[in-house]
This record gives sequence, C-alpha cells and structure tokens, in this order.
Amino acid sequence: MTQKILLTGGAGYIGSHTYVALKAAGYDVVILDNFSNAHHDVIDRLEVITGAPVPVYEGDVLDPAILRKIFTEHEIAGAVHFAAKKAVGESTEIPLDYIETNVSGLVTLLKEMRAAGVFRIVFSSSATVYGEADVVPTPEDSPRSYSSPYAFTKLASEQILEQVAAADDRWAIGILRYFNPAGAHPTGLIGEDPDGIPNNLMPYIAKVAMGDLERLSVFGDDYPTPDGTGVRDYIHVEDLARGHVLSIDALTQTGDSHTVNLGTGQGYSVFDMLKSYERACGQDLAFTVTPRRAGDVPYYIANPDKAKDVLGFAAEMGLDDMCASSWNWISRRKNS
Ligand code: UD1
Repeated sequence: MTQKILLTGGAGYIGSHTYVALKAAGYDVVILDNFSNAHHDVIDRLEVITGAPVPVYEGDVLDPAILRKIFTEHEIAGAVHFAAKKAVGESTEIPLDYIETNVSGLVTLLKEMRAAGVFRIVFSSSATVYGEADVVPTPEDSPRSYSSPYAFTKLASEQILEQVAAADDRWAIGILRYFNPAGAHPTGLIGEDPDGIPNNLMPYIAKVAMGDLERLSVFGDDYPTPDGTGVRDYIHVEDLARGHVLSIDALTQTGDSHTVNLGTGQGYSVFDMLKSYERACGQDLAFTVTPRRAGDVPYYIANPDKAKDVLGFAAEMGLDDMCASSWNWISRRKNS
C-alpha cells in the first residue's frame, strides 16, 4: 500500500524539493505550511513538476488542532519535519520566537503524532550542532555545542528526540544534519528565494549575478585555507532531498533510529563558489574582500561515511551543478 507522509514546511526550499523526491519514490505526501517564509505559487509549481494536485493545509505546526485534523483526515505513516525558523542573525534578536517555533513546534508535532499512533519522523537538523568542530571532516559522534539561539534550538530538538526515543521504543527517528544546501530543481520551477538581502553565500551571489545587488562581500581572505576564504561542504538540494527519502525508507524497513550527516565530504571556498557561478551565468561578478564575519569558522566539512553505511546515501552532484541549477532558477524566476 502507498504510504502517506506529512511534510511540515513542505513549501520551503528543502521541503519543496523533498516533496518532489518523495512523490518520485512512490509516496503520497500531505504538506503543512504556514507560508511565513514561502510563496503560495510554490504549490502551483509543485503541481506542474509532479503533474498532480498537491494536498496542502495552510497552518502552523504550533497549532495542535490543524495537526489533529490532518491525522484524522489522512492515514499518515510518518512525518518529515522541516517547519522551522533558520536565520542565525535573526535568532539572536528574537530568541523566544525561535525557541517557540523550532522547539515547541517539534513538541506539539510529536504529541499529536503519538496521539495518532504515528511514530516515524525525519528531523531537519544542521551541522551547526557541531559548533566549532575539532575534527574536520566531522563525524556524527563529535561533541555538540551551540553558539546562537538558532543552533540551540537544533541541538535541543535533537536531545528531545533522543529522550523520546529512549522512553518509548515505538519511535523510529531519523536526524539529518545538513551541511550547506545549494542549487535548485532542474526544471527551474523551484529553488531558494529569500526576501531581502540574503545571509547565505549562494543566494547572495545569485542576486549579484541578477544585478539586484552590486557586489559580493567576501568575509575574510586570511583564513588558514588554500585561498584564505572560508571552506564549506555545499550539497545540492536534490541530493539532500534524496537523503530524506532514504531516511524514511530506512526507518520503515528497520524500525531503528539514526543520526547522520548529509554532506558531500568535499569542501569548496568562497572563491571556488564565485568562479563556478561566473561560469554558470557567463559573466564576471564583482566582489570586495571585507573583514571576517563574527562566528564564522575556516572549515565546515561532513564526514559522509555513516550516511553511506546506514542509508546508502552518497551525494552525486558537484558545485557546477549547484551553480548552474541556481542560475537557471533565478534567471527564469525573474523573467516569469
Ligand atoms: C550559515 C550559518 C549556519 C547555518 C547555515 C545554513 C552563520 C554564522 N552560520 O552557515 O549556522 O546552519 O548558514 O545554511 O550564519 N560568505 C561570504 N559572503 C557572504 C556570505 C557568506 O563571504 O555574503 C562566506 C562565509 O564567510 C562562509 C561561506 O561564505 O565562509 C558560507 O557562508 P553561509 O552561506 O552563510 O553559510 P555558513 O556560514 O556555513
């Protein structure tokens, strides 16, 4: 029988790509999203990509009533939980909002899942739980810490899930720690689309390429890295989406919980990304080297071995794929 998955935050950047991947893998999917950081037309676009109506509930993961309604109206086999706030800088200004949405939202979801007899969940975590890692590439058993309210909510959520799983063995929980998601769907219909000035590197470069922003600020070129700029493990959002399908598959097949990194194991610098994007958009992109951004580290790279062992996951796409698909999405969106 076809299994039905509840996708919270399914209209967002990673959520929308995961919707497509789950459908392609044969799952039925229901989206819950409050559209606080997503456009409504994402749903129309998902319908074009999948060729079928998209079941959507507009509401908040903090609202037990809407969760109850979904669990009553659908036979849900498991949840993939994306709905959360994710801007590190903003989290330092409004920590309570982050704790409420990210931590209370998770608790509300877990309680309603338990009431409905649904015990399978894949959780969106982040490599941010490693803080400033001693070992790079970083394995999953590295010490965890936090340096922002955002990171605190991800670490607290992981710990809540661990407590829940330890207390009741009906739970099967997949914790996925993302490194740096980048790129867009090959159709150019969905991708990352932050309002205002982006915090993250790729969406910022994309806006420079579109002419919306004048130049990239390269945050420091004096790090102990090959070209002096920060090195990150960028992972194509399509690879990331596939990781979620493998995670839910593994929970269903084994009933065992897992915590894995989703990265490539390969690091790229800010200048690597800039050059790759220049190739993708066919123009030189302006930049200025500025002082380091507070809280940044030289290297953030996944050890991808456990994801391979436990999920059979290996990233397939490289930096040029990420930049080319991002440019395809951004340039089409502007012109559509
Ligand atoms: C950031 C967050 C991290 C979060 C992740 C989500 C911070 C300090 N860290 O990670 O907690 O999980 O996003 O995707 O905010 N860079 C520039 N110019 C820019 C933007 C970035 O040079 O305008 C550089 C940064 O210094 C870094 C690299 O590009 O070396 C990647 O930065 P970014 O995309 O913001 O990701 P992280 O800092 O790795």
